[in-house]
Amino acid sequence: MKTIAKITLGFAIALSATSVTMTFASAQKLTLYCSAQEDWCQLMAKGFEAETGIKVNMTRKSSGETFAQIKSEEANPKGDVWWGGTGDPHLQAAEEDLSQPYDSPMQGELNDWALMPAKSTGNKTIGIYSGALGYGYNEDLLKKANLPVPACWKDLLKPEYKGHVQMANPNSSGTAYTTLATIVQLFGEDEGFEFMKKLHVNINQYTKSGSAPIKAAGRGENTIGIVFMHDAVKQAVSGFPIKVVAPCEGTGYEIGSMSIIKGARNLDEAKKFYDWALTADVQSRALEVKAFQVMSNKGAKSSPSAPDLASIKLIDYDFKKYGSSDERKRLLKKWDEEVSVLPQ
Ligand code: G6P
Repeated sequence: MKTIAKITLGFAIALSATSVTMTFASAQKLTLYCSAQEDWCQLMAKGFEAETGIKVNMTRKSSGETFAQIKSEEANPKGDVWWGGTGDPHLQAAEEDLSQPYDSPMQGELNDWALMPAKSTGNKTIGIYSGALGYGYNEDLLKKANLPVPACWKDLLKPEYKGHVQMANPNSSGTAYTTLATIVQLFGEDEGFEFMKKLHVNINQYTKSGSAPIKAAGRGENTIGIVFMHDAVKQAVSGFPIKVVAPCEGTGYEIGSMSIIKGARNLDEAKKFYDWALTADVQSRALEVKAFQVMSNKGAKSSPSAPDLASIKLIDYDFKKYGSSDERKRLLKKWDEEVSVLPQ
């Protein structure tokens, strides 16, 4: 009897140890690389975790930085989904076979512009939001320094703005790469690079993240920040003395995108997140963190504070060209060699 009891007890312990191990092994998780604003990234990670029980491990890095990380992890992918950030490096990732196709059942609910990246890459990346590039300035600082109110891209080259303009580095930041590509498309490559060189003289700092220059302006540490207009609006509605400018010559825009990383270890969870992130309800939550982009789901809510893209002079941004691997590498190299090295 004793022996049988011992055996049964031993078996029960062994069994429960196995089931504990099994629970750990099958715990659902997702590694999310996020390139939108930190607060929005947090909202997405926590929201998904709360609704699905899937544990999310989220890291926020700028678009160019995330691209570089995924590239460096190519042989041993660590991320599952890359959510947010400008579309150009997502397109480059698709071309370089760093992301994988997924035909989401949510596609039917999206605006046509959001499907463009999917169509051109065989469903390797998709649009989640859109926003126009521009700049914002701190009204108080501008007045204090007795500076004129800028309205155009070319205004930013005026010598009186020396040390008053901030933008991000186009290598790390998708916002700044969009700026470089926009200026080249607006003025042509030669004149565009002349523009970037003159602008360089007025730049006080190239930041890592795209929205940092307007946050610094909000805090009174910088006068003019070249950013997506919605990032400037966020500062204005948060009570900072920021005015938003849609440059008079016209401007470029982004299709903020999402991709599933090739070799994702948690593919089912990645697809679940992907579909969830495209729902109207989840996209409407962007307003909770004052993310004023235009959302890709036709049913998502927008705010009256959001920049009205229809009233802004937008260029026909060539995503095919500027999101291609060769062109992005070429432009960044040229900027590194011909602009960033110049004295200020
Ligand atoms: C901000 C904007 C986004 C944009 C992102 C790019 O978060 O709100 O619309 O996609 O910047 O970030 P990055 O740091 O790569 O310029």
